[in-house]
Amino acid sequence: YPILIVKIPFFCKAIGYRHAGRTFRCASGVEKTPKKIYIVSAMALRDIRIFPDPVLRKENRPVEVFDERLKELARDMIDTMISKDGVGLAAPQVGENVRVVTIDARTDEERSRPIVLVNPEIVEKSGDIVWNEGCLSFPGIYEEIKRAEQVTLKARNLEGAEFTLKAEGLLAVALQHEIDHLEGKLIFDYMSFLRKKLVRRELKKKVEDMKKEAKETGGLA
Ligand code: NI
Repeated sequence: YPILIVKIPFFCKAIGYRHAGRTFRCASGVEKTPKKIYIVSAMALRDIRIFPDPVLRKENRPVEVFDERLKELARDMIDTMISKDGVGLAAPQVGENVRVVTIDARTDEERSRPIVLVNPEIVEKSGDIVWNEGCLSFPGIYEEIKRAEQVTLKARNLEGAEFTLKAEGLLAVALQHEIDHLEGKLIFDYMSFLRKKLVRRELKKKVEDMKKEAKETGGLA
């Protein structure tokens, strides 16, 4: 096999994609299925906090300083979101209680188009849509939730400039889901009493299994 040296673009430092034959995808839209990947540098993946981790319920403060630390957080969130095949991620899910959201606004399977929203705020909503939503903080759990079908929101980018975003369908659903996170609201809150009981039990078991596995592999899982 030839060794493919992947040149690492912005946002995209390689580890986590070392399995030969696996599709390598990064935030800038590079997509390849190499025979072998030569690891050039480590990707900064962050641990996803699983419900009922209290960090998911804490207050999230607005970003006031648009510095390197913010950019690093956004980069890590994008890497983490993509490595987990998530549609979106909110900062509290990686343990940071700030109002930052990343969304993978891809239009097809080929190209990933991550966007970062700082201090997002929904200014207009219309229509109804029901989507079977998942959440990286609730692995394996899905819940049908009714949301607005179209939303308009205001947010800032990583430089602090304000922009307006109009979205509909899945993108609108994902944005509402992530903005819920910034209010400490979770898919759990939309569930019936019985379903909540079941989900609590299921996730408790999952977290115990993950801890056990981490112990067996020397903490590298
Ligand atoms: Ni979520």
